[in-house]
Amino acid sequence: MKIPLDLLEALGIASQDIVKIDMLGGGVSADIWRLDLAHETVVVKRARRSLKVEADWQADPKRIQSEIDWHNFVRSFLPESVPEIIAVAPEHHAFSMGLLEYPLWKAELLKGKVKPRFAEQVAQHLVRIHSMSTTRSEIRQQFAHDDLFYALRVEPYFLTTADKHVAIGDTLRELGHNLLVTKLALMQGDISPKNILIGTASPVFLDAETACYGDPAFDMAFCLTHLMLKVLLQPKQLPILMASVRTMFSTYLAGVDWEDTGHLGERITRLLQAIMLARVDGKSPVEYLDSKQQALVRNFCVTSIKTSVSDLDRLIHDWSNEIQLH
Ligand SMILES: Nc1ncnc2c1ncn2[C@@H]1O[C@H](COP(=O)(O)OP(=O)(O)O)[C@@H](O)[C@H]1O
Ligand SMILES: [Mg+2]
Repeated sequence: MKIPLDLLEALGIASQDIVKIDMLGGGVSADIWRLDLAHETVVVKRARRSLKVEADWQADPKRIQSEIDWHNFVRSFLPESVPEIIAVAPEHHAFSMGLLEYPLWKAELLKGKVKPRFAEQVAQHLVRIHSMSTTRSEIRQQFAHDDLFYALRVEPYFLTTADKHVAIGDTLRELGHNLLVTKLALMQGDISPKNILIGTASPVFLDAETACYGDPAFDMAFCLTHLMLKVLLQPKQLPILMASVRTMFSTYLAGVDWEDTGHLGERITRLLQAIMLARVDGKSPVEYLDSKQQALVRNFCVTSIKTSVSDLDRLIHDWSNEIQLH
């Protein structure tokens, strides 16, 4: 897709300065261009109303403001952990930011390069961000985006999946509902290896369109889901992937200073099973599982949700057994 001239203008980019334009792929919710300019390289991101998935999934493009606000918030205390915002164009639901040429965590994981130490760093940064958000009184109001979080997470992940699984439908609906009523810290909303760059000084977090004040357990569960599911692609990496899950979880909990960690750990574990299932039967299934692998995830998650597994070690143990059996 061509970048509109009026968008360039609104961002203060002169078309004669552009040396090269490429589209950056990977995501479903935005159009992203890399612009090589005469003296710098920038990334332009514009939110889409209609998301690029098979199912019909619409969301207000004004959500780009949440991403701008989240980047600015994090930049105020962890400047290395987010790209710098260069210009904003609210009328186009777009902004420009610096390009950070670091490897994407997802690409490294898919190559089999799994480093628990990096998962630990992600947890350290995430818990710092969550904790900081609880100390700033204006953040809750600024990120009161329940309508967006409903449209982008609760409905497509929890409610859509609930409709496909009658036996555990009520549990999934309750988990989704709890996410809307729990107000403890600022969720980024899309903490996933495909939105995290392996920066030299720190992980770099991208893609905060879904940021909303709510339950920080969601961010951890959302991210751990990917480490759990990657095992299906690389069964030999089971020990190191599960070590990453464990260290990410324990590092995160060690940094929590706003609530009791026992209860938080249980919420993360319950959400994790629900989101694993949603990545198969919700509106945004992961693209890398075949139908046999999807069936395995489905059976495993339905059983563990039915038996109310709330202990992460137990979940890892059961999941490891399941993988080794197949
Ligand atoms: N500032 C940036 N520097 C480097 N790569 C980026 C930057 N912004 C986005 N990307 C790349 O583009 C991809 C899509 O961007 P993202 O913000 O995640 O959009 P989407 O909402 O479509 O997922 C990312 O996964 C990343 O690979
Ligand atoms: Mg993304």
